[in-house]
Amino acid sequence: MSASVNLGSNARTSDYGPNSAWAEEVRQLAKDRDAVILAHNYQVPEIQDIAHHVGDSLGLSRVAATVDASTIIFCGVHFMAETAKILSYDKTVLIPDANAGCSLADTINADQLRQWKAEHPGAIVVSYVNTTAAVKAETDICCTSSNAVEVVQSIPADKEILFCPDQFLGAHAQRETGRTNMHIWMGECHVHAGINGADLKAMVAAEPEAELFIHPECGCATSAMYLASSGVVPMERTKILSTSGMVTAAEQTKAKKVLVATETGMLHQLRKANPLVIFEPVNRAAVCKYMKMITPEKLLNSLRNGTDVVDVPRDIADKARLSVERMIAIGTPSRTKE
Ligand code: 13P
Ligand code: SF4
Repeated sequence: MSASVNLGSNARTSDYGPNSAWAEEVRQLAKDRDAVILAHNYQVPEIQDIAHHVGDSLGLSRVAATVDASTIIFCGVHFMAETAKILSYDKTVLIPDANAGCSLADTINADQLRQWKAEHPGAIVVSYVNTTAAVKAETDICCTSSNAVEVVQSIPADKEILFCPDQFLGAHAQRETGRTNMHIWMGECHVHAGINGADLKAMVAAEPEAELFIHPECGCATSAMYLASSGVVPMERTKILSTSGMVTAAEQTKAKKVLVATETGMLHQLRKANPLVIFEPVNRAAVCKYMKMITPEKLLNSLRNGTDVVDVPRDIADKARLSVERMIAIGTPSRTKE
């Protein structure tokens, strides 16, 4: 076991670099615990850089389902760690701070979903992965931002669909599939809903040559498609993408500048993927306070003390697993960085 480092509250960012005492202890403790560290693309750069895998919800779920390590440390928000537990029930799943929630997941609970289902008997429930385990247990098939369109397409055309909880992702899936028998829950993520059409129009006017990468949870996603279809920005330069879809698009782009509409933690992977391109946020204030609750100090504490343990009651996990396994079987594998 390595010597413990003392990380006081005055620690500086450089104290968490890849060659720091912090990084050395994290790596050693992960080895001692037989733990794999997974980090979402919105985590702070230091955590993305030390993680064994960095990716989007779908990619990280797939890693969680197949990984050999006996412990998974999930650096992301609580529903993501719960999804890992559902998929790998016999493993220990830890999150460095169990209070890291999600405003979107909070917009629907299992009782509300049961009530909605009772109003639409026979409908197929599609839930975004940003939901609690109890909601997933009431769901037929989960989806993520990278496979929502394929998941909706997989459902027979004559079946009514209840899509929850994100209204903007629902509108995107509806637009792409042309589905008319789809009811959409009016939930939203406060971070992405805050990236609105007015912000986007102002940025596009200031940067007419730039490409646009837009997460489908954004309030501006509909405006972006409107701007593209009305010729204000060329359709081929407007891309609605999951977070890992953005990394792949960043590697391939020929643009000099890309405007990015999502949580600003994303910029770290994009800049690493293509250092020649300028990536600019559409809204600099788009910061998820829940994602940022996972700090380098908390990751170290988690490894030292085996906290916070993520648990899902077995009956809920067993029901939820069916909808999550259907989700990971659909769509092209989204990349994770090792
Ligand atoms: P991705 O699945 O695209 O990583 O998005 C997850 C999320 O929480 C977006 O806010
Ligand atoms: Fe939830 Fe929004 Fe944060 Fe994503 S960015 S984790 S949807 S609150």
